[in-house]
Amino acid sequence: MRLAVTSDIHIDKNGDVALTALAERVSALRPDVLLVSGDIATSPAIYLQTLLTLKSVAPELLLVAGNHDVWTTPDAALRGLDSFVRLEKILPALAREAGARLLDEAPVEIGGIGFVGSLGWYDLSTRERLLDVPDSAYHAGEWGGLRWMDHHYANWYQEGHRLDCVAVAGLLRARLAQHLAGMTTRRIVAATHMLAFSEQIHRKPHPGWSFVNAFMGSYALGELLRADPRVALHIAGHTHLPSDVRIGRLRAVVSPLGYKGEWAGATVEQAVRRAVTLIEL
Ligand SMILES: [Fe+2]
Ligand SMILES: [Fe+2]
Repeated sequence: MRLAVTSDIHIDKNGDVALTALAERVSALRPDVLLVSGDIATSPAIYLQTLLTLKSVAPELLLVAGNHDVWTTPDAALRGLDSFVRLEKILPALAREAGARLLDEAPVEIGGIGFVGSLGWYDLSTRERLLDVPDSAYHAGEWGGLRWMDHHYANWYQEGHRLDCVAVAGLLRARLAQHLAGMTTRRIVAATHMLAFSEQIHRKPHPGWSFVNAFMGSYALGELLRADPRVALHIAGHTHLPSDVRIGRLRAVVSPLGYKGEWAGATVEQAVRRAVTLIEL
């Protein structure tokens, strides 16, 4: 099986030019399956258009949600349109309309290989231990003039109460565990938007960068995946820095496009070439 993977394509920021170049690159690679590991677009209309375009160049299109895909405003969340509604109703409906499949909703089996996936969420386990930041700042998402925008736009409500990031991470991880337990295939590809391993976290001697590292993922996600010997491949996103590392028997790949401002002078064609990794299974 030829599996093409990418993430963080942010088409609402990168525009149609990026989508067209991405579709051309995917088409040239002739994958059996294209897996996009989250951060496609916040706008439902652009999300759908992106899926329709990508589905036209890949026989199977699999997705996990990204944090930007479940963004909503605090007002909309209070009216009932919270991030759970985005994740559980709106994104699956858009995926179905495009003939794609959202792994957060249900796992998929293709050619004897199981695909499980989840947005996942951060539980602050990836934070920089040496950084002198109070817990309250991480929970508020604000420190030293920096603001982590999920705290404004990702609004998770349960029975009228807003959940904090640790609760959301626990809930989504439990769902992923359930999906894994229900798989009957001998080989499993696991996709999460959030990072799962310390090897994927880029450390820099910069306080702002270190603060944001707290919101990159959850090591408990990694422990869940490592505990299942059928999982040999993990695809993530969220960070816009690529990595391809081996963790025991597991290969963990991050292959993001990122924002065009991050392409360091590369053309859109060069950027999409780097952003799509082809894996033979
Ligand atoms: Fe992203
Ligand atoms: Fe993200």
